[in-house]
Amino acid sequence: MHFTRSVLTLASAGLVMSQRPTNMSICDYYTTALLKNNTGANQLAVLTLVVNTAVIGNYTTPNVGIKVDGILAPGMYNGTEVNLLPYFNGDLKSTNRGGNAGVSVNFLDGGGADPLKKNMAANDNTSHQYFLLTHLYEFFGALLGCSQYGMNGFPAYDGQTSMAKVHKFMDLGPNELGYFVQQVAMSAASFGVAKEDLEMVGMALNQLFGLRCSPPAAAVPPTDKELQAICIKDTCPLSPNPVCDQYGAAVAPVPNSTTPATSSGMPQSTSGSMTGSMTNSMTATMTNSMTGPPSAVPTAGAAVHGVSAAALAAAFAALLA
Ligand SMILES: *[C@@H]1O[C@H](CO)[C@@H](O)[C@H](O)[C@H]1NC(C)=O
Ligand SMILES: *[C@@H]1O[C@H](CO)[C@@H](O)[C@H](O)[C@H]1NC(C)=O
Ligand SMILES: *[C@@H]1O[C@H](CO)[C@@H](O)[C@H](O)[C@H]1NC(C)=O
Ligand SMILES: *[C@@H]1O[C@H](CO)[C@@H](O)[C@H](O)[C@H]1NC(C)=O
Ligand SMILES: *[C@@H]1O[C@H](CO)[C@@H](O)[C@H](O)[C@H]1NC(C)=O
Ligand SMILES: *[C@@H]1O[C@H](CO)[C@@H](O)[C@H](O)[C@H]1NC(C)=O
Repeated sequence: MHFTRSVLTLASAGLVMSQRPTNMSICDYYTTALLKNNTGANQLAVLTLVVNTAVIGNYTTPNVGIKVDGILAPGMYNGTEVNLLPYFNGDLKSTNRGGNAGVSVNFLDGGGADPLKKNMAANDNTSHQYFLLTHLYEFFGALLGCSQYGMNGFPAYDGQTSMAKVHKFMDLGPNELGYFVQQVAMSAASFGVAKEDLEMVGMALNQLFGLRCSPPAAAVPPTDKELQAICIKDTCPLSPNPVCDQYGAAVAPVPNSTTPATSSGMPQSTSGSMTGSMTNSMTATMTNSMTGPPSAVPTAGAAVHGVSAAALAAAFAALLA
């Protein structure tokens, strides 16, 4: 796409500004730093780059020296192996489509990584992949405070606004959520978002989505307060104001290949796909928390501040503790 070259050229040239003014959102600040013209289209372009990179890993050339593995790649978080792909590709019955159990949905049905590498959401505009990715751009755009959100060039988020509902059948724990947030942060860092801004975003995400049984909260504006916890496993930190009865018990998703028990059996599963859920959730969450100050692109910023990728990763991991 047209905007990509400009973004990359500027980012690689290290043109990210020194420090974000307090009266400028992360979205507006980094859009201006990278693309000069703070239009809705440019804001959406920046969100597209950050989200696509977070999902499939760094793909832009040249890159600014921070390696991003991507949410779809298996990884380690806090010494534990994490693999989110089965939530995205339909291997798990983990997508909430309104029933009593999760269903299998392939969220990589719009061409997979190839269109993402071209800075697109999908090869079409009707696939599950298309809606997941565009929802992510919109959700994070709201969360990061894009001033043109819902206006010219930047469509408003129109997906599910309760991230708890989206992720209801995923049974996600702290390492899964931690890995997801870490990849988003690394992506942002790879485009020059400063460490301070990354930390703000990380804390906001953890507050919104990472506390088990957390009370209703608003994510993407304008919304009524709804349940937002994505981390619902027993191992997730408990909210200081828990409303566990409103969530119900978490149930692990079963593989799509699992055949229902023949004799007594209802299929026991409830899994949704992470792709769908996470996309929706993160978008919403990020919008609220991050509207104000946080920014999400650390690579260039990292270079500017002389912070190494490893240091950024460590800082982020510490935030998630
Ligand atoms: C932010 O503050 C600066 C300095 O106080 C001011 O010049 C600028 O107009 C402000 N920007 C916005 C969007 O309010
Ligand atoms: C910035 O955007 C405005 C409105 O789209 C346009 O008229 C102007 O030419 C753009 N400036 C640059 C430098 O691209
Ligand atoms: C990702 O970033 C790392 C670190 O800069 C780089 O070595 C690698 O070549 C990049 N991968 C791609 C596909 O651009
Ligand atoms: C889930 O399993 C069903 C039944 O075998 C199959 O038709 C469907 O394609 C599978 N879904 C995915 C996303 O692989
Ligand atoms: C979807 O794609 C078709 C075919 O390219 C196009 O005609 C249509 O306008 C697109 N719809 C949206 C909402 O972008
Ligand atoms: C990592 O795991 C240990 C042991 O399970 C736990 O005490 C600690 O809080 C975890 N740290 C993070 C950052 O999740």
